[in-house]
Amino acid sequence: MAKRTASFICQICGAVHSRWQGRCDSCGAWNSIAEEATATDTMPANLRGGRRGRLIALESLTGTSEDAPRVQVGISELDRVAGGGIVPGSVLLIGGDPGIGKSTLLIQASAALAGAGHRIIYVSGEEAVAQVRLRAERLGLAGAPVELAAETNVEDIVATLSEGRRPALVVIDSIQTMWTDTVESAPGTVTQVRSSAQILIRYAKRAGAAVILVGHVTKDGQIAGPRVVEHMVDAVLSFEGDGAHHFRILRAQKNRFGPTDEIGVFEMTGLGLSEVANPSELFLSNRDSGAPGTAVYAGMEGTRPVLVEIQALVVPTSLGTPRRAVVGWDPSRLSMVLAVLEARCGIKLGAHDVHLNVAGGFRISEPAADLAVAAALISSLAGTVLPPDSVYFGEISLTGAVRAVPHAVARLKEAAKLGFTRAVAPAAKGAGASGREPAEAPLAIDAIASLGDIVAAIAAKGPRRAAAPSQEG
Ligand code: TYD
Ligand code: MG
Repeated sequence: MAKRTASFICQICGAVHSRWQGRCDSCGAWNSIAEEATATDTMPANLRGGRRGRLIALESLTGTSEDAPRVQVGISELDRVAGGGIVPGSVLLIGGDPGIGKSTLLIQASAALAGAGHRIIYVSGEEAVAQVRLRAERLGLAGAPVELAAETNVEDIVATLSEGRRPALVVIDSIQTMWTDTVESAPGTVTQVRSSAQILIRYAKRAGAAVILVGHVTKDGQIAGPRVVEHMVDAVLSFEGDGAHHFRILRAQKNRFGPTDEIGVFEMTGLGLSEVANPSELFLSNRDSGAPGTAVYAGMEGTRPVLVEIQALVVPTSLGTPRRAVVGWDPSRLSMVLAVLEARCGIKLGAHDVHLNVAGGFRISEPAADLAVAAALISSLAGTVLPPDSVYFGEISLTGAVRAVPHAVARLKEAAKLGFTRAVAPAAKGAGASGREPAEAPLAIDAIASLGDIVAAIAAKGPRRAAAPSQEG
C-alpha cells in the first residue's frame, strides 16, 4: 500500500521541500510553495527491484530516417514559427497572457485543418462548448468539422482520443485546467500539470497525433507553474502583445523541429487574428518623421527583416538620480550605449533622463539595434531631426567601433522596398576603409566605422553627405 504524506512543492519550478517556507531555495520565488498530498511510494510494484531489463536494439547514427513529415496548417505565420508545419506526434506548448488570443488562434488553426480534411479535436477545460461555438460563429468558422469537448480529466480525454480515426491535431486549452486520477493534488498544482502533460505527451508519441497545449503565463512572463512542462514538450511558442496594440507576435522559444528565431505576426481584428505578411509596414505606419529623437532600425527576426522606429527622449533631469526608462529593448544594452557615448564621444548624459521606446510595442533583442538607438539618443539631445529616408543598423562595441552585423543585404532590401534611400551602417565585410558598397546593395550606404562618426554627422546638423542629391530610390 502506498504511504500518503504531504510534501511542499514550489509551484513555479517544481522543487520539493520538506516543510513550508516563504521562499523557494531552488528558484528564489517568494510565496510559491504549496502543500500537496503525494504518495511516497508511487513506483509500481513490478518496477521495484527484481526484474531483469529487456534487451534494447542499439542503432547507428548513420541509419536512414525520413524527414519529419509536416502538416501545413495553412496559416503561414504559424507554420513558419513551427518550423514549416506541425510534425505529427509532436507536442507544442503555446504560452501567453490571458486574453491575448491563444484560443482564437487555435480555433482558427483547428478550423483550417479540419476544412482540409484532417480530424481535429479541440478540448476546452476553461470554456463550455457553447462558448467555443459562439466564438467560432463570430469568426465565421462554425461550418468547420472540428470536434469539440469541454473536459478536464486527462484519462477520459485520452480514452476518447483513442477511439475512431487518429486525429491529426488535438488542442488542449489549457494544461492548467487538466487533472489526472493518478495524483492526488488539486488541479492547477505543479504535480497535476506535470502528470497530465506527461500522459498527453505519451498519447501523442504513441498515436502519432500532434498535441498543442495552451499554457498561462505569470506576471513575469513565465509559463505559470509548468516550467517543468517546457522540458517535456517538443516546442514552446509564446504569444505576445499588449492590450494597447492590436498586433500579436508568435515567437518560438524552443523548437526541436525548427529554428527558434522566427516570429509570426498577427493582427487582432473583429474577425479574429489575421496574418501580417509585411510587419515593417505595420510598425512604421504612423511614423512621426519630423521630430528629433526618432530613427528607423532595420532589424532581423529569424529569416525575416523587420523595420521599426526607435524613439528616444533625452531631457534634463529634475531628480538626483537620472531616470533610464526602456520599453522594448534591453536596459543593460542602453546603459552600455550611454557609457560608450560618454567615454568615447564625450557626450555626458549624467544629468539627463533618458527614455527609450520601440514604437508599436515591438520587442527587439538584437545588438544590431545599438546604432539606431545611439542615433535616436544623439538626435534627441542635439534637437536635430534625422533624415527621414535613412535606416540604421550596426552593433556598437565598448571601444566605440561600429561592427558589421549579419544579413546586411536582407536588411537593405527591405528598407529599399519600403522607400528608404540611405542606410547608415558599418562598412560591409570585405569593403575597403572607404566604405565601398557591396555590388548587390540595393541602396546607398553611409558607411561608418565608429560611433564618433555618427555623432559628428548629427552634430553637424544633418546626415553625412547630406548635400549629395539622392538619385537612388
Ligand atoms: P482569446 O482567444 O479568448 O484569448 P486567450 O485564449 O489567450 O485568453 O481572445 C480574447 C480576446 O480577443 C478578447 O479580449 C476579445 C478579442 N477578440 C477580438 O478582438 N476579435 C475576435 O474576433 C475574437 C474572437 C476575440
Ligand atoms: Mg483561452
